[in-house]
Amino acid sequence: MNALYIKTELSQKEYPIYIKDSFNELENAFIKAKLKDKKVCVIADSNTEKLYAKEIIKIAEKCFSEVSCYVFESGEKSKNLNVISNFYKFFVEKGLDRKSVIIALGGGVVGDMAGFAAATYMRGIKFVQIPTTLLSQVDSSVGGKTGVDFLGNKNMIGSFYQPEFVYINVKTLDTLPYNQIASGMAEAIKYGYIIDKNFLEFFKNNMKKIKILSPEEIKHIVFISCKSKAEVVSKDEKESGLREILNFGHTFGHAVESLSKFKLLHGECVSIGMMAGLKLSCDKGFISKDSLTSAKKLFEFFELPIKVKNFDKNEIFKQMFLDKKTKDNKLNIVLLKEIGLAYTEKNVSDSEVLNAIDYIIL
Ligand SMILES: NC(=O)c1ccc[n+]([C@@H]2O[C@H](COP(=O)([O-])OP(=O)(O)OC[C@H]3O[C@@H](n4cnc5c(N)ncnc54)[C@H](O)[C@@H]3O)[C@@H](O)[C@H]2O)c1
Ligand SMILES: [Zn+2]
Repeated sequence: MNALYIKTELSQKEYPIYIKDSFNELENAFIKAKLKDKKVCVIADSNTEKLYAKEIIKIAEKCFSEVSCYVFESGEKSKNLNVISNFYKFFVEKGLDRKSVIIALGGGVVGDMAGFAAATYMRGIKFVQIPTTLLSQVDSSVGGKTGVDFLGNKNMIGSFYQPEFVYINVKTLDTLPYNQIASGMAEAIKYGYIIDKNFLEFFKNNMKKIKILSPEEIKHIVFISCKSKAEVVSKDEKESGLREILNFGHTFGHAVESLSKFKLLHGECVSIGMMAGLKLSCDKGFISKDSLTSAKKLFEFFELPIKVKNFDKNEIFKQMFLDKKTKDNKLNIVLLKEIGLAYTEKNVSDSEVLNAIDYIIL
């Protein structure tokens, strides 16, 4: 079975990411991972349970000795230790042991939480990811970060833990609200800007097909995104700091995200943040004004915001210093040396940053 094999820092083992347009090969994936005949618990949120749990449970019943399903209310507000504690109680009730398996069926929230529960229940049991949002397919499937929010801090409690495999069925995106698609698209486009100029061209040349979620194009996007993230994350083992380039658009983006009180989706903020990063790269003479215009066109085509309304420039500036990745009160901003080549700039003047912020305020 065709798969992209991922090996990243901290992981002892390599795992496959299957990128398909149905669930037809899921049973084979379980067999190949030698997960047959065990107890399994599917974890879904209130949306993915209604949409996909029945189909997954049916396939799981062919392979596993016992299948149970735990459902929690969808949304970031559920991403906490109380809900994890409910997972554990359910696992005990169902008699899950060290040999049991957890299946995460949903977006990044389900993936991060089910992964964390798998990492910690009985000091670690096996888990499988079936990501169903574009963001989780292009981002959280790689890197092994799992965890929950704590006391208002995002992802404060967690661990690195790799799945046995990731099974992506791009057809699940057909039921995802469009703003969530666009949000994931922003993260995918980011890989084009930071390491793969051809990938960016692919977006520009196939915009219409991508927007209507043509499976071949989406599979390509998911494949290149996972491969790009894996490349960056694994190179970081030797070349410390490379991973930072994944934060392109994020220093500005996180500031906007917090100030919007999380009313804007993460990817929407990254889109705005990338515009600021591109502007700053242009002001430094690295990329052309044409690149800025073409980015604007691309983001607008996917209905991603490129500016914020009613925001105060200085508030955004101040907020940027509160980002957890800002070290020693000094802004490290990921910029582009050219399209497809990112680096971390450690010397930016306040006025350069403020100019870039000006550019993203309506
Ligand atoms: N582990 C990592 O490396 C990593 C990377 C990026 C983001 N994250 C985390 O991921 C989370 C965000 O992920 P997300 O954007 O997928 O959010 P999410 O999991 O909340 O999903 C967004 C919404 O879409 C619904 N949904 C999921 N799949 C659907 C489908 N196929 N059809 C219809 N509705 C569907 C969900 O129920 C939810 O309401 C954050 O908590 C973030 O911290 C983790
Ligand atoms: Zn992001």
